[in-house]
Amino acid sequence: MTDPLALFDEWLAEARASEPNDPEAMALATATKDGRPSVRIVLLKGHGRDGFVFYTNQLSRKGAELAENPRAALLFHWKSLRRQVRVEGPVGILSAAEADAYFASRSRDSQLGAWASDQSRPLETRALFEQRYEEMRGKFEGGDVPRPPHWGGYRVTPETIEFWTDRPHRLHERRLFTHTPDGWRQGLLYP
Ligand SMILES: Cc1cc2nc3c(=O)[nH]c(=O)nc-3n(C[C@H](O)[C@H](O)[C@H](O)COP(=O)(O)O)c2cc1C
Repeated sequence: MTDPLALFDEWLAEARASEPNDPEAMALATATKDGRPSVRIVLLKGHGRDGFVFYTNQLSRKGAELAENPRAALLFHWKSLRRQVRVEGPVGILSAAEADAYFASRSRDSQLGAWASDQSRPLETRALFEQRYEEMRGKFEGGDVPRPPHWGGYRVTPETIEFWTDRPHRLHERRLFTHTPDGWRQGLLYP
């Protein structure tokens, strides 16, 4: 197959059928301007020709790093399939309309959590977070919960996508797709 996005769809479908949980979980690596890396798991919430989408608090550590260095690496590791996929590329912020649409589709509890959580900031006690959550519940009672202005989505536009397959004797297979002005170029890497 010469279309990495079609191949990704195929692998994700297989992961959905075989992973015990969260087949959409991916490690998201970001870095500060001076190159200090950080990594955490987020959920893939959309993907296609123009990229891989996730949602988060834009004032979080990852959000701050993306603001100063808008590039990221993603990693899917599907243990049940002994496969990994690596994606690298520049990152853009989704439009307010796209973020609104996704936020509106979340459960009310998740929506209130987005307001209550000062993601990545120090929290004195768990009780304080629960209290903030209850305050938000009261504040928005009887109406829709709007999207917090600091909550939104990012899209990683792939420049490279690598598909890694386990093979016996560590003779693993690595297929690297690189985006060029003429389309995707495909090659192999030593394992
Ligand atoms: C399975 C799983 C899925 C997660 N999905 C998300 C997500 O979609 N968005 C998000 O902001 N955090 C998600 N998290 C929490 C992040 O890993 C992380 O703790 C949080 O975003 C703060 O990261 P930061 O301080 O580096 O910005 C998830 C964690 C796990 C284990």
